[in-house]
Amino acid sequence: MDIQNLLDDIVASVQPLLGQGEVADYIPQLASVNAKQFGISVAMRSGEVYSSGDADVPFSIQSISKVFALALVLARDGDSIWKRVFREPSGNPFNSLVQLESEDGIPRNPFINAGALVVADRLLSVTGHPASAVRELLRQESGNPRIDADADVAASELLHSHRNTSLAHFLASYGNLENPVEEVLEAYVKQCALAMSCTDLALAGRFLAANGARADGTPLLSRSQTKRINAVMLTCGTYDAAGEFAYRVGLPGKSGVGGGIVAVVPEHCTISVWSPGLGRSGNSLAGVAALDEFTTRTGLSIF
Ligand code: DON
Repeated sequence: MDIQNLLDDIVASVQPLLGQGEVADYIPQLASVNAKQFGISVAMRSGEVYSSGDADVPFSIQSISKVFALALVLARDGDSIWKRVFREPSGNPFNSLVQLESEDGIPRNPFINAGALVVADRLLSVTGHPASAVRELLRQESGNPRIDADADVAASELLHSHRNTSLAHFLASYGNLENPVEEVLEAYVKQCALAMSCTDLALAGRFLAANGARADGTPLLSRSQTKRINAVMLTCGTYDAAGEFAYRVGLPGKSGVGGGIVAVVPEHCTISVWSPGLGRSGNSLAGVAALDEFTTRTGLSIF
């Protein structure tokens, strides 16, 4: 299999989709991105990388950061987080408030916003500087020391965070936050505003394809913890479109409203895609189509 040729083919075949879908505009700073961009990268466990299209253009990773935050909490604090967040798909949009009340302030999973706020809260307690902890992990695993948060995107989100503020206060009212609401929101928004390219992202996610082993060979997570993160990515990583994503792509994946998605072929490689136009559930339209084509043509799927 010539992976480079395949990626170049995929870039050609998604062209008609570019510009379709909606660019996220509830964070105004994200709306100014050129929607016609598309990038794809594959990072093998060994560290070899293949890229095509706009794979070296940094983009806002947004909810993709939730995977790295969860990995750090599990690595540093073990399983206690699972007392504060469930592991079930929500079937609702990523920023929905409804289940939190009927389910006593325990979010359905760590990838919807409510659950990610709980994870950010724990990471704040454990590290003191959660966004920096996520940034350092991304820098070390990708080998790119320039990865940083986009301050304009963070400020823009903080000014338009009525929903996340509501979710955080709701969590606090159930005693499911350890830190003040404002500090948790700031940490979460900074973590979401981290910007990196497809190439950086594919490299940074390799521990998920390597049973938890970091780029330098040391363990970040155990084999079992890595299996569990991948399982939650499969069932919850693309929100109320997780069933459709599993059907089309057949891999654990995590999306963000910046238009990025990282997908994992356990034991083998990570694939990252980016294109800003989103479908109804907030997942990149061209990104999902590209991953569908990748797994269909390579047969690299967990099924
Ligand atoms: O909290 C938010 O709404 C954003 N910072 C992240 C949402 C997101 O990326 C959802 N993913 N598709």
